[in-house]
Amino acid sequence: MTDTGNGAVGDGSTGQTCVVYGASELVVGPAGWEPADQNGGHTGVSHGDLEVIEDGALVAVDGRVEVVGETATITRGYPPENADVALDATGKAVVPGFVDPHTHAVFAGDRSDEFEAKLEGASYQELLAEGGGILRTVRATREPSLETLVEALCAHLDVMLAHGTTTVEVKSGYGLDVETECRMLEAIDVADERHPVDLVATFLGAHAVPEGATADAYVDRVVEHQLPAVADQGIATYCDVFCEADVFSVGQSRRVLEAGLEYGLTPKVHAEELSHLGGAKLAAEVGAASADHLLYATDEDVQAMIEADVVPVLLPGTAFGLGEAYADARGMFEAGAPVALATDFNPNCHSRDMGFVQTLACLEMGLTPAEALLGSTVNAAAAIGRTDGTGTLSPGGPADLLVLEGPRYAQVAYRFDTTAVEQVLVNGTPVSTSVIANDGGETS
Ligand code: NIG
Ligand code: FE
Repeated sequence: MTDTGNGAVGDGSTGQTCVVYGASELVVGPAGWEPADQNGGHTGVSHGDLEVIEDGALVAVDGRVEVVGETATITRGYPPENADVALDATGKAVVPGFVDPHTHAVFAGDRSDEFEAKLEGASYQELLAEGGGILRTVRATREPSLETLVEALCAHLDVMLAHGTTTVEVKSGYGLDVETECRMLEAIDVADERHPVDLVATFLGAHAVPEGATADAYVDRVVEHQLPAVADQGIATYCDVFCEADVFSVGQSRRVLEAGLEYGLTPKVHAEELSHLGGAKLAAEVGAASADHLLYATDEDVQAMIEADVVPVLLPGTAFGLGEAYADARGMFEAGAPVALATDFNPNCHSRDMGFVQTLACLEMGLTPAEALLGSTVNAAAAIGRTDGTGTLSPGGPADLLVLEGPRYAQVAYRFDTTAVEQVLVNGTPVSTSVIANDGGETS
C-alpha cells in the first residue's frame, strides 16, 4: 500500500474549525437543495442547476459545513487567522468531493491481455464464456490474504482520492463462495477504517455463474449460504446482481434481491448493460436504490425508475472501454431522472478518475459540466443512500471538498490530461494526495 500518512479522518467533536475563503467559484450543490433528513424525506437528488457563490467562503466545524457565503461576510464572522485550518482559495474553484457509487475495487490479478484480445475482436461475453473475464479475476482473488486485499484496495483508494473522490461504493463479487465474498467485504471494512475515503459496501455474490455450476444451482448457494453469512457479518449495505443474458435472468435476479431484502440489504441492479433484459423494471419493482449501466434502457424503463425513485447510475468509462454506444444520459435528465455517474472501476474498466468520467459524460453523452458535476456528487450520493449533504457543501453536510487548480468548476470536465484537483479536504481536514504519480500497485 502507498501510505497517505492520513489514516481515516475522524469527525469527532473537538471544535476544530476550518475556513476556506476567496474561492472564485464555490459550488454549494444543486440550487434549492435540502438534505433529505431536513425536508420531510425527499431523496436529496438534483435535476438541474448549480448554486455557485462567486468570491465564496465556507466554514466547517468538527468536520461538518457550518456556513457558506461571500468571503467578505463570512470572514468577518470567522476570521481565518482564528481557524485551525485556513485555506486561501483565491483564483481557484472549490467543489464538493466526488462520490463514486459503483466500483469493483477489490480484486487481484491482471487482465490487460484481454484488452488486446478485445482489440482483435473478442467480445466481453465470449471471454466470460471461455472462463476469462470475471471468472479469471475470481480465480486470482480467491488466493490473497485479507491484508493483501486491503493493501491493494487502499492503493486504489489513494489514486481515487488524488483525483478528488472522497466517497466510494465497493462491491464484492470476485469470490463466488462464502469465504471469499466475506473476505472481500472484510477488506472493504478494514480499508474504510484505515483510509480517509469513506466506503460503502455492496454484496455482489450474483456477479457470475462459477465454473461447473448452473445459474439456478448457484442462485440457491447465494440465497442459502452466502446471504446468511454476509448478513451475519454485518458489513454490506446493498445487495447487487448482474442481471444479463447468459448470466442471471430477471427471475433469478429477483430471487437474490428479494432474499437480500429479507436480510435488510437494499437492492441494486447491473441492468441493461449488454442487452435489454428487464433489469431496470426489476429494480423499480423491488425498490432498488439504483439501476446501473442502462446502455439498453428504454424510455419506459426510465419512467418506471423515476416513479420508483431508483437512481440511474451511468458508467461512461465502461461504454468507452467496450466500444459500446453510451447510455442516454441526456434523455434521462430531460425525463426528470436524477442521473448519477460512476467509474465502474474493475479489471475490465481500469478507471479510477471521476474527472475523466465527467469529461466523457460531457463529450460523449451531451451533459453540461454542471450536470456532470451533479451526477458525480449529490446524485451519486443518493445512489448509495448518503442523503445527509454528502456531495454538496450545504450546511450540515460533511466538509469533503476539492480545491481546483483553475478558477472555474468546468475545469473538472474540461481537463483530461491530469486532474484539475489541487487539494482535497475530508471532514474539513487537508489530506495528502502525493501518490498521484503512483499507479497503486496491483497484486497478481
Ligand atoms: O459492471 N458487468 C458486470 N460487472 C462489471 C465488470 C466486472 C469484470 O469484468 O470484472 C461491470 O462492468
Ligand atoms: Fe459493475
